[in-house]
Amino acid sequence: MFPIQRPRRLRSHPQLRRMVQENLLTTNDLIYPLFAVPGEGFAKEVKSMPGVYQLSIDKIVEEAKEVYDLGIPAIILFGIPADKDIDATGAWHDHGIVQLAATAVKEAVPDLIVMVDTCLCEYTSHGHCGYLQVGDLSGRVLNDPTLELLKKTAVSQAKAGADIIAPSGMMDGFVQAVRAGLDEAGFQDIPIMSYAAKYASAYYGPFRDAADSAPQFGDRRTYQMDPANGREALKEIELDMAEGADMLMVKPALAYMDIIWRVKQATQLPVAAYNVSGEYSMVKAAVLNGWVDEQRVVMETLLGFKRAGADLILTYHAKDAARWLNA
Ligand code: PBG
Ligand code: ZN
Repeated sequence: MFPIQRPRRLRSHPQLRRMVQENLLTTNDLIYPLFAVPGEGFAKEVKSMPGVYQLSIDKIVEEAKEVYDLGIPAIILFGIPADKDIDATGAWHDHGIVQLAATAVKEAVPDLIVMVDTCLCEYTSHGHCGYLQVGDLSGRVLNDPTLELLKKTAVSQAKAGADIIAPSGMMDGFVQAVRAGLDEAGFQDIPIMSYAAKYASAYYGPFRDAADSAPQFGDRRTYQMDPANGREALKEIELDMAEGADMLMVKPALAYMDIIWRVKQATQLPVAAYNVSGEYSMVKAAVLNGWVDEQRVVMETLLGFKRAGADLILTYHAKDAARWLNA
């Protein structure tokens, strides 16, 4: 008779558990999203995202210092412009809100990595991620004209001091277009983190409140991926790798742990998971009701992303997580 197997032996003491721990979350893994708005001294909490604010640039700079002091290596900036139009002018203008924010942060905290989301939805009057023919209410985003705008946007963001460009609109060929634009403008050394596998998700709802970017008609299903599909994510990352992406993102994260895992197995590039707004809001709602222990639930979730294969995690919990990790 074999003796019964006793895996509990290795769980019997905290030090022993430390020794056999397979995955580890550190502050190095975290990227904190920030929303820049025009104005000064302005901070408005996003109703559906307790603890997350729309901030004017002076406040963004204060946040950036705090983030850096917590040991978080990077932020990702989103912008809410004063005006929106059909050409998404606010996205690619050299004095756009995100460009100004990126410059201000780099000036104040040069060692903080500033990632910038490269998309049009916050800047178009209709809220779609790409270019639409004037008067077209079908919501059919025109792929190739959008690429030209994304290229311009990425170059202006790099000029403003962005360290990493993160195209998020799921247009075909967007990585290639952005890479070409950056290279032509002399930004060969600026990496691209592609939102490679981005699903058409209801979990973005609170973000669209925060960024004022809900589509005015139609939805994003003709460009973002169908939640039913897994193999298609591998197709998307294959294309983005061929087009020159330096890092790949899977988004959302919680309902897509299998995708994080499969992408990690299929690439040598760093993989990022975006723990999106709706995932954050659900946890916060439960926390505010006293239904779950915030620290334990958040840390378990973030560690779960690491176990699934994420090298990096974009999360609204980043500052809290860093505080807990540093404690
Ligand atoms: C822009 C963009 C979105 C998010 C990040 N970049 C929203 C969308 O696609 O509608 C969502 C982030 C979040 O929900 O936290 N394309
Ligand atoms: Zn978009």
